Amino acid sequence: MDNIIFKDGTLFLLDQTLLPNEEVYITPKTKEDYFDAIKILKVRGAPAIGIFAAYAMALIEGDKVELKAYLDSARPTAVNLSWATSRMLKAYNEGKNLINEAVEIHNEDKRMCRKISEYGLSLLKDGDGILTHCNAGALATSQYGTGLGPLLLGKENGYTFHVFTDETRPLLQGARLTSYELERAGIDVTLICDNMASIVMKQGKINAVLVGADRIAANGDVANKIGTSGVAILAKHYGVPFYVLAPYSTVDFNCKCGDEIVIEEREPDEIKTMWYEKPMALDETKCYNPAFDVTDNSLITAIITDKGIAKAPYNKSLKEILND
Ligand code: MRU
Repeated sequence: MDNIIFKDGTLFLLDQTLLPNEEVYITPKTKEDYFDAIKILKVRGAPAIGIFAAYAMALIEGDKVELKAYLDSARPTAVNLSWATSRMLKAYNEGKNLINEAVEIHNEDKRMCRKISEYGLSLLKDGDGILTHCNAGALATSQYGTGLGPLLLGKENGYTFHVFTDETRPLLQGARLTSYELERAGIDVTLICDNMASIVMKQGKINAVLVGADRIAANGDVANKIGTSGVAILAKHYGVPFYVLAPYSTVDFNCKCGDEIVIEEREPDEIKTMWYEKPMALDETKCYNPAFDVTDNSLITAIITDKGIAKAPYNKSLKEILND
């Protein structure tokens, strides 16, 4: 299933807000269409946002510096967005063909996801029980995905996995997207509420946790979907390996540690009203809705990238895997 398709000069985007009930492709035209699609998560997942923004930079006419700043402001945490728009701006300044550059970013992501999936699969065994949080599959990238990549590649190679997916409050990427993707791929998947991660680990059902990443600091602290650090703490407690899978471009060497990562805050309605017939809290009740949290590097067993597998100390290993 392709979430972003560029065909005959037109960009088609699978609207992820309608999944799993409807598979509808939209065709954004204006810069506001592109901005809104990123902001309200019609396209989401760090690498997919970057690919989509690259096409926006190629297809929207006008001042590219302003366009980049406008698109980057839609979602601040995932580094892939500003990484892709910076690369497109550089290509523009060098007089390159911007459509070709965007297509190359898209194709590169497919190659990176495949490598990440291969490295990730090398750490798993047939029959493993896996826990995942949010959605780091093909919908969040181009193909295979990052966190789900080893599972999809493993399925192609005859592995059987038993996957538990957290529903991932408040936007339910695990329920709406991960279970949908894995069901379609024929992989055994069981949906749990976020607060059930502990019991499935305690019951010995989980051999590894696989998650994606939105920004990786130089010291290996990782920003990821809200709730991920809680899963990492549980994994450490129960002795379950906790793996982060992401393209190498997710490593932000300008960020020394997780404290420097800007955390996106979203609207209270996502908690109080979005999925309910009636509001689930009083109108006057305050909500705090950070969209990401930071997992401390000490909780991470390995960071699996397209360049190789990094282990602590990450300050050293994240640089070293480039030269291996
Ligand atoms: O808010 P989202 O749905 O864009 O958050 C996505 C995640 O946190 C993903 O797990 C992360 O971007 C990695 S995607 C391969």
